[in-house]
Amino acid sequence: MDWGLKNRLSKIISPKDNRGVMLAVDHGYFLGPTDGLQTPRTTIRPLLPYADSLMLTRGVLRTSVNPDVNIPIVLRVSGGTSIVGEDLSNESLVTSVEEAIRLNASCLALSIFVGSKHEHKTLVNLSKLVDLGEKYGIPILTVTAVGKEMNRDSRYLGLACRIAAEIGAHIVKTYYCQNFEEVVEGCPVPVIIAGGKKLPRELEALQLAYNALRDGAAGVDMGRNIWQSDWPIAMIKAVQAIVHKNADAKEAYGIFLEEEENDKSSHKERQKVVRTTVNHSVPFD
Ligand code: 5RP
Repeated sequence: MDWGLKNRLSKIISPKDNRGVMLAVDHGYFLGPTDGLQTPRTTIRPLLPYADSLMLTRGVLRTSVNPDVNIPIVLRVSGGTSIVGEDLSNESLVTSVEEAIRLNASCLALSIFVGSKHEHKTLVNLSKLVDLGEKYGIPILTVTAVGKEMNRDSRYLGLACRIAAEIGAHIVKTYYCQNFEEVVEGCPVPVIIAGGKKLPRELEALQLAYNALRDGAAGVDMGRNIWQSDWPIAMIKAVQAIVHKNADAKEAYGIFLEEEENDKSSHKERQKVVRTTVNHSVPFD
């Protein structure tokens, strides 16, 4: 691995503990103004100090993040589909590597849809992106999206993660599942987990993050369970404690409650986003 690629990778997964907290705010690329992300700038700004990296599209980066921020950017470069379109798996590469370099991206992210109608196309997308990443020294994060008809189990997720790593992904994102350690074991690059759809209680999301780290995940790429919480700052601080401070779910929930209380008592502006739109369900959740 070349120096530049290693250097960029170290900004996403810290070499101090081989872990990372990635804040995912890329959902609008196919979901539009989804619940909690209607105004990306408002959602993103207060959370930045607590994330190691930020995953988003070039449009939201340019319009909604100040260029003087000091946070590594994980740029989503696949897309071309929408929640109301025919098939979410029909993705192409929609942002060039030159554009990613202009935007000072530390990592490039794309989705693969193993077992879908467009499996082949998305895997070829990945192979082309890995070639470019290796050429310019930029690591590739592969998002293993799960088709509606696919079981989100260790067999299927293990298959998707392993294929991503075989094609050359440097980090793989997947979902937590039973026997998750088998997914990690079978994947020779770091595995991070998505939070998935908002869970009813914060403690459940923290338990999910804890279980994933315990079973070998290198961190989280979490979105909705952070910014759809009524207390997103408290939530990201609690997640950070699990990832970097080895807190268990109960300890992290204690941090969450303390932060929530601080926020309430100091009359800080609540970071709750006014819910004006329907919360779309994501087919692969
Ligand atoms: C959407 C994504 C999201 O970034 C990913 O699913 C993480 O977000 P969440 O924790 O809300 O699931 O890749 O395509």
